[in-house]
Amino acid sequence: MTKVAILGVGGISGAHIAAWKNQKDAEIIAICDIRQEMLDKHPEYKGYTDFEEMTKNEEIDILDICLPTYLHVEYSLKGIEKGYHVLCEKPVSLHPEDAHKVYEAAKAKGVNFMIAHCVRFWDEFLRLKEIYESGEYGKLISGYMFRLGCRPSWSWDGWMTDEKRSGLVPFDLHIHDLDFITYAFGAPNSHTLYRAKRDDQDYLNCVYQYDDFFLSIESSWYAGKFNFQSGFRFQFEKAVVEYKGTLKEYLTDGKVINFVPKAAEESDMEGIPTTNAYENEIIYFKKCCQDNVFPDLVKPEELKAVLDILTSF
Ligand SMILES: NC(=O)c1ccc[n+]([C@@H]2O[C@H](COP(=O)([O-])OP(=O)(O)OC[C@H]3O[C@@H](n4cnc5c(N)ncnc54)[C@H](O)[C@@H]3O)[C@@H](O)[C@H]2O)c1
Repeated sequence: MTKVAILGVGGISGAHIAAWKNQKDAEIIAICDIRQEMLDKHPEYKGYTDFEEMTKNEEIDILDICLPTYLHVEYSLKGIEKGYHVLCEKPVSLHPEDAHKVYEAAKAKGVNFMIAHCVRFWDEFLRLKEIYESGEYGKLISGYMFRLGCRPSWSWDGWMTDEKRSGLVPFDLHIHDLDFITYAFGAPNSHTLYRAKRDDQDYLNCVYQYDDFFLSIESSWYAGKFNFQSGFRFQFEKAVVEYKGTLKEYLTDGKVINFVPKAAEESDMEGIPTTNAYENEIIYFKKCCQDNVFPDLVKPEELKAVLDILTSF
C-alpha cells in the first residue's frame, strides 16, 4: 500500500484527496495545513499543522504538495531531501531556473518528482493532441483557447492576488494552456502579448506563432462574479474541433462527431463521471513510483520554456 501525505489542504487539495480516495493500492495517511480549520474539514485523516512534525511521525512514500505557488520549490526540495516521491501542483515556480533545479535534486536523490499539470491528463485535450499528431484532419491552421474567471480575492492570506507570490493570471491560469501547447506542439517560435492589467482585474490575450499556424489564448481574472469557463476551438484543414463542455469535431463533409471521454465510456452511470484529469495524473504518478520508473511525461525543459515566456509578460 502506497502511503500518501497531502501538504496544503486548501482549494485544489479537494480534487487530489478525492482522487487518492479512489485508489485501492494507496492511502492518505496524513494531511498537513497551518490552519487547523482546514484539517477539521477532514476528521478521517490524521492532521498536522507543522510539516516537520508530520515527517517525524509518519512514514511517507508520496508527498502531494498543494501549497501556494511561492512555496512549491522550498517544500519540494524538503520532501525530496527526506527521500519522498513528490507530486507538486503547478506552477513549479515563478523563476525559470528552478525547473531544472528541482528535477535534478530528485534524480540525485533517486526519487520521483512531477509537476501536476492536469491539462496534460485531460481526455479532450489529449484527443486534440492525437488529432494533431495523427494528421487525420490534415494540417493545423489556427487555434483559440480560453480560460476565464474572476479575481480570486478569497485565497488564504491574499496570496493569489499578490504578484510576488502567485504571478497573477499568467502563472495561475494562462500557464495551463501554454503548458499544454508546449507539450502538444512544442515551444512556439514567438509570441505577441496584449494585456489589460489593473488593480482589480487582469485580462490577457497572447498570440503564439508556430511555423505553419498560430494560436490565440485568452485568460482572465475579471472583477465581479464571472463564472469560470474554459475551452478551445482548433481549425484543421478538414475539421474544426471545439471543446465547450463537450468536444465536437465538425468535419468539412458536414459530419459532426461527438467525442466521448474514456472515463465516460467506461462508466455505467449515465452522463457521469466524465474526464477526471486530476485522478489520471495521480494514477500516472503513483504507477511510476510503484514501478520504480521516473515520470517523464512533464519534462523540466518544457516547464522552463513556459516560464521563460511567462516571465517576459
Ligand atoms: N491544477 C489546477 O487546476 C489548480 C487549480 C487551483 C489551484 N492550483 C494550484 O494549487 C496551488 C494551491 O492553490 P489553492 O487554490 O489550493 O490555494 P489555497 O490558498 O486555497 O490553499 C493553500 C493551502 O496551503 C496552506 N498553507 C500555506 N502555507 C503552508 C505551510 N507552510 N504548511 C502547510 N500548509 C500551508 C494554506 O493554509 C491553504 O489552506 C497553487 O499553486 C495553484 O496554482 C491548481
